[in-house]
Amino acid sequence: MAERTLNVISICGSLRKGSYNRMVMNALPALAPEGMKVTEAPPFSEFPLYNADVQNSTGMPAPAQKLADAIRAADGVIFNTPEYNFGIPGGLKNAIDWVSRVQNQPFVGKPIALQSASPGPLGGGRVQYDMRRAMVFLDALTLNKPEIFIGNCAQRIDDKTGKITDEATVGFIKQQLAAFAKFIATHGAKS
Ligand SMILES: Cc1cc2nc3c(=O)[nH]c(=O)nc-3n(C[C@H](O)[C@H](O)[C@H](O)COP(=O)(O)O)c2cc1C
Repeated sequence: MAERTLNVISICGSLRKGSYNRMVMNALPALAPEGMKVTEAPPFSEFPLYNADVQNSTGMPAPAQKLADAIRAADGVIFNTPEYNFGIPGGLKNAIDWVSRVQNQPFVGKPIALQSASPGPLGGGRVQYDMRRAMVFLDALTLNKPEIFIGNCAQRIDDKTGKITDEATVGFIKQQLAAFAKFIATHGAKS
């Protein structure tokens, strides 16, 4: 099979402007291996709260359909998310809930990679278990290792420039993206 570019989309679980997770997400295009292109997914910030009555009366909201279409078209999805109260931030969970109700929901068989950053010491490790659980229900294929938990992120990311200043962290992210490219090629690449 001819080599082709893997088109991966990234979804940030934080809506705030100064988000550390967004800073990590913004670094991904430059850290991706050759042959992998990472672009940001359409936003979920305008999604209404999930309500089956809304879906049944007016259908899938246009922004939710747009995100679902982008997920379906992508070779893989990277989530860059904080941990809120030991779990998935409400906005991101709401987005996953909407997308999961699209017909032929697009996470089936989709390669997924997880990254989280937190000013706390555990780097948002617990949100990743919640994300893995949701992805199991949706029949997505989540990369096991390497895991990316960026603890004490305020010391590893310069919030003035938005750059990751910790070289070890940069190295771990590169390793995960390289592993993700192989994972997609083995388990999920579209023809
Ligand atoms: C509602 C809320 C709950 C939080 N819960 C956790 C938590 O469970 N674990 C954690 O490590 N940090 C927690 N934090 C701190 C976040 O990790 C921190 O605000 C982080 O900067 C958010 O990510 P962001 O910079 O990408 O927006 C919480 C923050 C908020 C606003």
